[in-house]
Amino acid sequence: MQRAEFESQLNELKDAAERSLTGVSGLEDLQSWEREYIGSKGSLTLMFRALGGLDSADRPEAGRLLNQVKQSLTATFENRETELKAGATAARLVSEAVDVTLPGRQPQTGNAHPVSLMIDELSEIFALMGFQTVFGPEVETGRYNFDLLNIPSDHPARDVWDTIIMDTLSEEIVLRTHTSPMQARVMEESKPPVRVIVPGRVYRYEAQDASHEWMFHQLEGLAVDSNIRMSDLKGVLQELARQLFGPTRRIRFRCDFFPFVEPGVDFAVDCAICNGKGCRVCKQSGWLEMGGAGMVHPRVLAGVGIDPEVYTGFAFGLGIERLLMMRYGISDIRAFAGNDLRFLSEFAALTV
Ligand code: DAH
Repeated sequence: MQRAEFESQLNELKDAAERSLTGVSGLEDLQSWEREYIGSKGSLTLMFRALGGLDSADRPEAGRLLNQVKQSLTATFENRETELKAGATAARLVSEAVDVTLPGRQPQTGNAHPVSLMIDELSEIFALMGFQTVFGPEVETGRYNFDLLNIPSDHPARDVWDTIIMDTLSEEIVLRTHTSPMQARVMEESKPPVRVIVPGRVYRYEAQDASHEWMFHQLEGLAVDSNIRMSDLKGVLQELARQLFGPTRRIRFRCDFFPFVEPGVDFAVDCAICNGKGCRVCKQSGWLEMGGAGMVHPRVLAGVGIDPEVYTGFAFGLGIERLLMMRYGISDIRAFAGNDLRFLSEFAALTV
């Protein structure tokens, strides 16, 4: 081959390679381009072989030109490669971008049940007055649920607590109808002074409606010591009403009958929503019934081995759902066990 022909082939090759490189838009294309032009079997390598066919006098100059073209193409190739790699990285960064300024996704968390919140609150209020919170069994014997509370089996008062009775051969077993059986259990286990509250579930054989549930929660209170008087009961319940419903609340006692207290009362707080004037929540009466209370019956004390000549005590029981209904103006007790998240999540802000 003549030198002139060699040089023109080389120039054509260079032009073709450069033209083709401008059309390369991805790293894969670039690899094929490399194979075709500057790789070990590419056109440029073939030109090195063709050098051998030139006159020996022409070879050095032709070789120099060839090396120049190779360097130039290799440099352009490398530039393009850097460019394409940077582009690919940028594209990946864009597609994987995380906007750290966006607000985070809030994980879904639950919240405490309003009844649990109320139990915690009541425990705190009573702890400040020296009462300890204790829990008792929900499955009870007739002895604790009734007999030790001065409700003998032939007593008509037993009918007041419609009961879910479990069939057993030996003993009468019931789902406790109130938290009062814990009065006897606590007094059997500890000597006076006794000051406890007992929150927990109770069960009644009952048709459900807006104010009746077959399962609900009560809070029992019991204080036994020498010289416990009705005025102590009044002071404690007055303080409870103030803590729950505000400092200007008044409480009302009216005579009532419960077999395990003498005298017995029902107690109410003046309605905080209408300030006692009468509204929907207090059913126009101005008063909200909180529960029953009284001085522990001497027979109850004697039944658990405490001498009623030496010690006296007071007891009270109230409905926890009722307290929540009064405070928040909830009109249907079934909401509490109804499992409707729209209702339950209303209390999220109160969960600590
Ligand atoms: N145990 C009663 C009930 O469930 C409520 C009650 C009334 C509890 C008077 C007491 C009390 O401790 O003194 O209806």
